[in-house]
Amino acid sequence: MITAKRDGGELGDEQIDWVVDAYTRGEVADEQMSALAMAILLRGMTRREIARWTRAMIASGRRLDFTDLPRPTVDKHSTGGVGDKITLPLAPLVAACGAAVPQLSGRGLGHTGGTLDKLESIPGWRADVPVPLMRELAADPKIGAVVCAAGADLAPADKRLYALRDVTGTVESIPLIASSIMSKKIAEGTAALVLDVKVGGGAFMKDIESARELATTMVELGVDAGVRTMALLTAMDTPLGRTAGNALEVAEAVEVLAGGGPGDVVELTLALAREMLAQAGIPDADPAAALADGRAMDHWRAMISAQGGDPDAPLPEARHRETVIAAASGTLARLDAMAVGLAAWRLGAGRARQGDPVQPGAGVELHAKPGDAVTTGQPLFTLHTDTPDTIPVALDTLRAGYAIGPDPVAPTPLVLDRIAP
Ligand code: URA
Repeated sequence: MITAKRDGGELGDEQIDWVVDAYTRGEVADEQMSALAMAILLRGMTRREIARWTRAMIASGRRLDFTDLPRPTVDKHSTGGVGDKITLPLAPLVAACGAAVPQLSGRGLGHTGGTLDKLESIPGWRADVPVPLMRELAADPKIGAVVCAAGADLAPADKRLYALRDVTGTVESIPLIASSIMSKKIAEGTAALVLDVKVGGGAFMKDIESARELATTMVELGVDAGVRTMALLTAMDTPLGRTAGNALEVAEAVEVLAGGGPGDVVELTLALAREMLAQAGIPDADPAAALADGRAMDHWRAMISAQGGDPDAPLPEARHRETVIAAASGTLARLDAMAVGLAAWRLGAGRARQGDPVQPGAGVELHAKPGDAVTTGQPLFTLHTDTPDTIPVALDTLRAGYAIGPDPVAPTPLVLDRIAP
């Protein structure tokens, strides 16, 4: 199979079923799967191969079923970005509008943050929710949303393969990303799904054509598996909102739920909420009203409390702060998502290896965004960390990632395209 794919051949259905199963059971060695993953990255896969590979990954574990819930189920998945805290306001908002959101989420690795790491910065909040309780929370009209960790028995093939890809330079493959994400989302048992496919320097997909191909592939996989699926392509050249980190992002999400928060976070939250509600068959709900009148905040508080968290507890703060000031006046012309994500990661917000602890208070606060006028001496960024020895390297990373120019910068759209079946 390795040499067949290396030489540009197609893998048969039985071969795919066998290799995914044998790798999950430990019968195929990591070095062989790495070689196959690299061959797939370089040679690609046909639609048939991708569909079969996804099916085999779902079959490696358990498939949940929430079709008996009294409310329509719908979920959202982002392909990963910097400052992407959208799930935090979005899940309770969509629940407040009448849908059930049973979301299995992940932890961050590398420069992209993970929703569970962010929520775990809330004192007492627990990511582990047994499936019967998940069902109860999603069905409860006062809660309606549950964001938790996937059990070890959900797409275990992907757990092994993703960890291997992460250390073998084989993450950025459209067939492997599409099958990885969709195997987990199909196994999760949601009836409908909205994908937020990130495009740009801080995303896995750097250009719109590859993002469109990834989105189309995932939408087809979802629809074939009976999940109503659509995708938005959204910009990830600069971070979303004004924070990248764990507790810092929770605080910003709470601002959005309180009716404030940065414009881009509010815009994307509402755009995704409208798509999710349409997919769930509740197109007339008004998510902007549910945000403005406090219903989304009520659901957030109920959702956090139901998972052991205290929504009123002060969030953890890092012990050290360092502020970077503008060396010139002008317009912030560029602020790279990748640089901010890497700086936050180096400060302790992310992890280098699976299982490492993260610092809840670490991250980067942005006092200006591209297009904002800045004057010499004004604060541009504040770095937060418990480990001050990480500040110099985080500063170096950040300094290479922004520029102040003399000319105004035209605003760029956040939602770039919409891919429906
Ligand atoms: N997220 C996933 O779950 N899998 C990938 O391959 C990439 C992003």
